[in-house]
Amino acid sequence: MLSQALKSLLRPDKRVVVLTGAGISTESGVPTFRGEDGLWKKFKPEELATFDAFISNPQLVWEWYEYRRKLISEVKPNPAHHSLVKMEDFFEDFHLITQNVDGLHQKAGSKKVIELHGNIKRNKCIKCGREFEELEFSSKEIPPKCTCGGMLRPDVVWFGEMLPAQAINEAFKVSSLCDIFFSIGTSAIVYPAAHLPVVAKQGGAYLVEINIERTELSNLADEVFLGKAGEILPEIAKVIREA
Ligand code: OAD
Repeated sequence: MLSQALKSLLRPDKRVVVLTGAGISTESGVPTFRGEDGLWKKFKPEELATFDAFISNPQLVWEWYEYRRKLISEVKPNPAHHSLVKMEDFFEDFHLITQNVDGLHQKAGSKKVIELHGNIKRNKCIKCGREFEELEFSSKEIPPKCTCGGMLRPDVVWFGEMLPAQAINEAFKVSSLCDIFFSIGTSAIVYPAAHLPVVAKQGGAYLVEINIERTELSNLADEVFLGKAGEILPEIAKVIREA
């Protein structure tokens, strides 16, 4: 199933970068954003995922995130997440970048994850910026308040907001220097994340895409696996084990 070209690159000394999107978590039961059953088919991002939306209706936005937090807290990482843990152990220079806020890579055991869009478990104060880990506050108010009196919001990146500088800078740096870049379960249309595979390819990386359908990126990729991440990544991890 894997090409000879890819097999010959799967060596511990190769620099590997992986970018994941919502599609890697679908087999765990977390809905994607786009596509038939996507969240943005049922909900309007401008009413739930912008700072203006939060200011106009903080309760609604907070409750939507509580609903997603509950859903995420009940799901488990799938074979795709577990295979990436094996890849992290195998390659000496390995970077996992995710657009997901669900924390499933960490739950699976990935040690270092570059989170581009934040993490849904965390909150931060809109006034002083203080970060709160889950369950750190006992306030019954919705949304809860910080000790400074500011409202707490989920620590995720909303539309129109900047990505965390350190995360995006590191993501661009490692992408430009890698030998193999895997784009997994992402529609590859949300920037700046969607630019990472392009930068990798420009830097000479072998670009691999894993997705159940072709995307904007497919024509640029050196190899496209059309199928579920939870089935294809274990195959790749198996080749590594046998190497
Ligand atoms: P999308 O919902 O845009 O795309 C999910 C992709 O996963 C699609 O291309 C699907 O075809 C693919 N897919 C679904 N199931 C799969 C499976 N089992 N195996 C492999 N691929 C599968 O999600 P993202 O690309 O992650 O931003 O979206 C990017 C950003 O847009 C998100 O981080 C979020 C959203 O608005 C913020 O929240 C800031």
